[in-house]
Amino acid sequence: MPQSSAFELSRRGVLAGSAATVAATVAPEVAKAAPAAPAPQAAVSFKVNGRTRKLQLDTRTTLLDALRDHLQLTGTKKGCDHGQCGACTVLVNGERINACLSLAVMHHGDAVTTIEGLGTPDDLHPLQAAFVKHDGYQCGYCTPGQICSAAGVLDEIARGVPSHVSDDITAAPGASNMELRERMSGNLCRCGAYSNIAEAIAEVAGNPRARA
Ligand code: FES
Ligand code: FES
Repeated sequence: MPQSSAFELSRRGVLAGSAATVAATVAPEVAKAAPAAPAPQAAVSFKVNGRTRKLQLDTRTTLLDALRDHLQLTGTKKGCDHGQCGACTVLVNGERINACLSLAVMHHGDAVTTIEGLGTPDDLHPLQAAFVKHDGYQCGYCTPGQICSAAGVLDEIARGVPSHVSDDITAAPGASNMELRERMSGNLCRCGAYSNIAEAIAEVAGNPRARA
């Protein structure tokens, strides 16, 4: 037998032996593997847009998925699902949060406000009306998050909560251009409608000088 054929045979033999060894080692483990345990569930009750909602949820469900997939409130958008774009911003007890970064079970007893709860087509929230007036959107995907975030921003300013650009953290912050832009910096707009968004928020904040 030529030397190369002998090598082939011996190589095949080694591979076959290895495969058999692996199969013998792994197969019993696979056979013994227990079926996956059912996902833990929990009852959650919270107020969404003023209405009490009760859900039985997989404890890993985010607030964003609970709103969109379980309550069909699809106004709140999923952009990155990683806390980076702000598309999922909602108000919880008046504070703005990224709903994709928060588990629904953490909000038992909370009051959640989504874009559907801020205004209606016949009775727009002032921020919704200002976004329409100033053309503060193009595709509109980021808009619900922008508006919910802006509502939170105006409330923060009214309560005197300082930001990273506040010169004096003990003074009332005001709605300057810098304050509004800093506070809205977590809400991205892939269409780049920032200057119109800034104008809309500035108008509602009552500070024309804060407009872009
Ligand atoms: Fe939540 Fe982007 S979807 S921050
Ligand atoms: Fe399109 Fe903002 S309007 S992402």
